[in-house]
Amino acid sequence: MTSLVLVVAISYLLGAIPFSLVVGRALGVDLRQHGSGNAGATNALRVLGKGPGLLVFLLDFGKGLAAVALVARLADLDAVVGAGWLGSRPALAAAWVATIAGTAAMLGHVFTVWGRLFFGSWKGGKGVATGAGMLTGLAPVAVGLAAVVFAVVMALTRYVSLGSILAAVSLPLSLLALHFGLGIESPPPVWIFATVVPAFIVWTHRANVRRLLNGTESKMGAK
Ligand code: G3P
Repeated sequence: MTSLVLVVAISYLLGAIPFSLVVGRALGVDLRQHGSGNAGATNALRVLGKGPGLLVFLLDFGKGLAAVALVARLADLDAVVGAGWLGSRPALAAAWVATIAGTAAMLGHVFTVWGRLFFGSWKGGKGVATGAGMLTGLAPVAVGLAAVVFAVVMALTRYVSLGSILAAVSLPLSLLALHFGLGIESPPPVWIFATVVPAFIVWTHRANVRRLLNGTESKMGAK
């Protein structure tokens, strides 16, 4: 069994794999020089096409999900419970470990050491697909509701960035609705993550926000 520090390190290194840049390089394109310049699935779709875009989305989503569903399970839960600072109940401690592992993967996606080593920059993507993957392992119904928000905003505006931001903002509201409406409970670390992550997503989309405000953000499907 593995220490929490090792789980965080593995999750970070997994999340830091810049799949969009890898796929782009395999196709002879540096994504950072094209489209929005972002190392993410949306820009892969925009620049490389539907197949590569979908592939990058699934890989970016998958690394977030794998961090919470696989890597986190390597943690020595007895040691974590014994230490006491992540809760003395095994279920709560497991939720904390999974949330921490998923957060490490998401941060790895945004600040990528592999990107620094092999592509010349720490700058990764904006964390949406990886964050969605990690939260799917923790609060799947809330992610489903966020996906609906994303789809509606996309249908109305065709701005992926606006859909991503509003989907992230919907997360704590969805947890509240699920708690009070359906009695579906989420553990404290998921509440904390879902409350902090909208601000982080707005920050990673700060250039998009500027473009949205001055009317220069590109719409999906526009030439
Ligand atoms: O997840 C990233 C998306 O919300 C925006 O991507 O390439 O339009 O900046 P992009």
